[in-house]
Amino acid sequence: MKKIIIASDHGAIFLKSQIITFLKTKNCEIKDMGVDSEDSVDYPDIAADACREFNLGGYDFGILLCGTGIGMSLAANKIKGIRCAVVHDLFTAEMAKAHNNANFLAFGGRVKYSAPVTGMIDIFMNASFGDERHIRRVNKIMKIEDQC
Ligand code: RB5
Repeated sequence: MKKIIIASDHGAIFLKSQIITFLKTKNCEIKDMGVDSEDSVDYPDIAADACREFNLGGYDFGILLCGTGIGMSLAANKIKGIRCAVVHDLFTAEMAKAHNNANFLAFGGRVKYSAPVTGMIDIFMNASFGDERHIRRVNKIMKIEDQC
């Protein structure tokens, strides 16, 4: 059973509930870190809390949601160990796992996607990472954290 953390700002609460419904059909264990209201909040706070929770361990991956997915991903990628990918179709969802071994996906509640977000999550969950050249490249990404 996959354990997934999910968090949203006020720009994607409907999308968050759609994703949670989908993940339950896949028997995932879900840690929902809010928010559940359209009252305005600051996405960097939500992203940082969710990524720090993820870094405590035990999670397979996380999902961050805001109006576009962009702000959440920018904030998440400041946290050590996080590789948050903004994906926008089935191809980039699959590559986020196969090439980048992303541990967070970011989506936007105000974005018009060509494919359902749940389909992108499904393809990400079923993709595999492990090709030697992609391992080498992702290791290089993570080393940058120690060189700043
Ligand atoms: C909030 O209005 C909006 O800026 C936020 O949800 C997100 O889209 C930022 O990247």
